[in-house]
Amino acid sequence: MTEQVKPVQPYTTLSNGITMPLLGLGVYDMYNAEAEQAVSDALEIGYRLVDTASLYRNEKEVGNAIRQSGINRNEIFVTTKVGNGDHGFDNTLRAFDVSMKKLNIDYIDLYLVHWPIKGKRKETWLALEKLYKEKRVRAAGVANYLIPFLNELESYAAIQPVLDQVELSPWCFNKELFDYCRKRKIQLQSYSPITRGKKLNDPRIIQLAKKYNRTAAQIVLRWNIEQGISTIPKSSSKIRLQENFDVINFSIAAEDVAFMNTFNENFRICDDPMLFL
Ligand SMILES: NC(=O)c1ccc[n+]([C@@H]2O[C@H](COP(=O)([O-])OP(=O)(O)OC[C@H]3O[C@@H](n4cnc5c(N)ncnc54)[C@H](OP(=O)(O)O)[C@@H]3O)[C@@H](O)[C@H]2O)c1
Repeated sequence: MTEQVKPVQPYTTLSNGITMPLLGLGVYDMYNAEAEQAVSDALEIGYRLVDTASLYRNEKEVGNAIRQSGINRNEIFVTTKVGNGDHGFDNTLRAFDVSMKKLNIDYIDLYLVHWPIKGKRKETWLALEKLYKEKRVRAAGVANYLIPFLNELESYAAIQPVLDQVELSPWCFNKELFDYCRKRKIQLQSYSPITRGKKLNDPRIIQLAKKYNRTAAQIVLRWNIEQGISTIPKSSSKIRLQENFDVINFSIAAEDVAFMNTFNENFRICDDPMLFL
């Protein structure tokens, strides 16, 4: 009998030298037992990156699932974020302690500024730098930072963010930001990568799905991986968790990736971060 070889999932090395899986689970809009179950299922399937936030009100359940999984803590990459109401230096440090308590795990891998809140960005980032310097987080990053926010950050930051988590899909593809981040070694991570299903009926994606004998969601997720973009699709269905994880098993030809790069129409699920400038 031939033994099935388990495909190896792709990892990236962040600019401070730590490694992170490219594919992860986003846990927005799942609560209580549902959230705990989804994280447990995901870890069982093979996911090793979980993206939560204080805003999602499920840090406790994420922590429970991680502790109960029996998987070594150092094999799982955990991201959480400072909420919009907690910005400012002292507030951020306090919010971090609350997240740590809820997660109840030894450390957080990546702490992100959830949104670039006007007037508070500098103090909030300086608090993240302090957490990083004190080794309370393994890495610090941002979310929803488009180029003007990243430029501003660069002007006062002693430590640059290792990662920027932004809304990103073929229909919301900011090529300038992609190039900017690549140049500065800031890892891009896509949220709402499958547009919460809203664009999965695009005939061009359906055509590609047929070509590769994959689902539309898989084509879109694989498009991220092909370009070194980390992606964190959310699902609380075990079947779709498996479907999304299976994108580690195939690849898309460069010309199809390039074709999908032409789909951009600034289609957004969430607010345009420029409203925060
Ligand atoms: N930094 C930020 O400001 C920010 C903003 C938004 C999101 N995020 C993060 O990014 C993660 C993902 O984004 P998102 O939750 O907004 O949207 P998403 O991952 O694009 O879509 C999630 C939705 O699609 C469904 N779905 C999952 N897999 C599917 C598949 N294979 N085929 C069809 N439908 C599928 C899910 O339903 P089921 O659960 O029923 O499968 C859910 O309704 C969030 O969970 C969160 O961690 C960050």
